[in-house]
Amino acid sequence: MDIKGSTNIVGLIGHPVEHSFSPPMHNAAFKKLNMDYAYVAFDVNPKDLKNAINGACGLNINGFNVTIPHKIDVMNYLDEIDGVAQLIGAVNTIDFKNLKGYNTDGIGAIKAIEEVTSVKDKNVLVAGAGGASRAISFYLAKYGVNSLTILNRNTQKADNLIGDVLKSELITNAKSDSISKINDYIKDTDILINTTPVGMYPNIDDNPITTSEFMHEDLVVFDAVYNPLETTLLKQAIKAGAKPVYGIKMLLYQGAESFEIWTGKKAPIDVMEEALKNTLNLG
Ligand code: ATR
Repeated sequence: MDIKGSTNIVGLIGHPVEHSFSPPMHNAAFKKLNMDYAYVAFDVNPKDLKNAINGACGLNINGFNVTIPHKIDVMNYLDEIDGVAQLIGAVNTIDFKNLKGYNTDGIGAIKAIEEVTSVKDKNVLVAGAGGASRAISFYLAKYGVNSLTILNRNTQKADNLIGDVLKSELITNAKSDSISKINDYIKDTDILINTTPVGMYPNIDDNPITTSEFMHEDLVVFDAVYNPLETTLLKQAIKAGAKPVYGIKMLLYQGAESFEIWTGKKAPIDVMEEALKNTLNLG
């Protein structure tokens, strides 16, 4: 892909950014569709965030992804925030056409799961109550799950998140509990989602949050951990005859959604997935 006088720029702001998988994934998509775009990563110190957004407006940059530590603070510098992103309280995508912020992390998880099953009317169990759980939980509510149960070590955090989700009025059937009770819940669960770092490299052999004997064949298990590609939790799901959904798919679909927001074109999923796998170089 040649950079020309006419090339449109999109990119990532974060701190740090040098290990991001997003530039190769998006640039592979632009190349495939022969689009005059380039995706670059900008390391932005938190004290320079406002200048970075104003500068991007001045430079006619088309779009940004936003990562740690800017996802919350960046909302101060936008003109408009998508409704669900507002509820989540974090933005990972900016469209400079209208200086509007979106959160495609949660959509990414829904789309990953929907490769296997629809989330509508399902009973969903989410382990963890941090940032990833928050983004995913509001989208589960928006996409019409029957019930949402959030389990966490720190139960107060799960209570608070469920309180916020209920306040949104996107769902009425939602509750929280201790993650120590996870095995009691799985029998009545259609979709289990792990948002905790349990099983993440280098702690790949740590005890998973649950094991195959508690799972059933109609269960879908999504692990937001993507390194390793196949976590111990997903191995347990396969052993039980349940359907695994790999964490890398969430990265893929959050990127695809951002791509579509910026360009208005359908994202070429297959090339993006191949580029993502090559970059992460995971076995
Ligand atoms: P992220 O942005 O990836 O969601 P986070 O906001 O730090 O990361 O949230 C991590 C979540 O994983 C939290 O819910 C955390 O539980 P606590 O709130 O009780 O700390 C959970 N978590 C982290 N390590 C865990 C472990 N070893 N077992 C169970 N839960 C764990």
